[in-house]
Amino acid sequence: MSMQVADFPAIPADPGRAETYRGLELIRHDPCGVEILNVDLTEPLSDDRFDAVMEVWHQGRVIVFRDQKLEPDDQLRFGRRVGELSVIHTEKFAGEDPAIMYISNVKEDGEFVHALPVGEMMFHIDQCYKPTPAKATILYAMEIPAEGGNTLFADAIAAYDALDEDTKARIEGLKALNVYDYDAGATHTADQVSDDAPRYAHPIARTHPVTGQKALFINRLMTREIVGLPADESRALLEKLFDHQENPAFVYEHRWRLGDLLMWDNRCTLHARRDFNPEETRIMRRLTVLGEAPE
Ligand code: SIN
Repeated sequence: MSMQVADFPAIPADPGRAETYRGLELIRHDPCGVEILNVDLTEPLSDDRFDAVMEVWHQGRVIVFRDQKLEPDDQLRFGRRVGELSVIHTEKFAGEDPAIMYISNVKEDGEFVHALPVGEMMFHIDQCYKPTPAKATILYAMEIPAEGGNTLFADAIAAYDALDEDTKARIEGLKALNVYDYDAGATHTADQVSDDAPRYAHPIARTHPVTGQKALFINRLMTREIVGLPADESRALLEKLFDHQENPAFVYEHRWRLGDLLMWDNRCTLHARRDFNPEETRIMRRLTVLGEAPE
């Protein structure tokens, strides 16, 4: 049974100013993203504290725990509390646990050994090309460049809400096909995708299973067509929606600090990455939490 948004107590909104909510010290960002300052994830969280964290996450869409010093087991313990973890299917990218994936530009014998090593990345939604995309991604900053490599989060609920009524009516009930061909287009849309690339069609406007809010569930990197529309009509509508959802008014840009642990809600955000100096090392440890079929 999904909880409706009206059931949620609101976090007092004053972007950028520290505030306390259910014992959590918070800094809220605009238009989404909340820093949680007084939680140490090397310690198991009490039920009450964990519930408060989840409540802030459902409202803020992206939560940021600062100044963490996390071993893989600490991150895994928190991730398993959020839900069942996805197993990394690309074996060569799996870390010390099958649910851990490293995103880094570390090289061995001149070859990158981890996923998504360099460069900017277009807006996307993790695993939207699967029948049950990840609900959460939990990313921990182990080494970061002096400049760049920021991760941007676009609030897909704010983007949906800001659509005009005609567009909302036009996309109602439509599905879009999401495809990810890591070899041809890991970070930028591939001109051609392989027939074997994983793909799945999901509602363009999905309803968040916890908050009941509608989100624009498409993205420039992976969404290729709207099912049932002629190609030119599909492309024109997608381009219009991509431009709309990437409007800076809906975007929080996260400038990483060492020891940041972020958890974002893939059901109602999309994310992108800015370029960085490939000569500087960037190492992130990532978990994803299984989600439900979008409706
Ligand atoms: C990702 O899209 O999962 C990677 C984001 C990043 O490297 O900042």
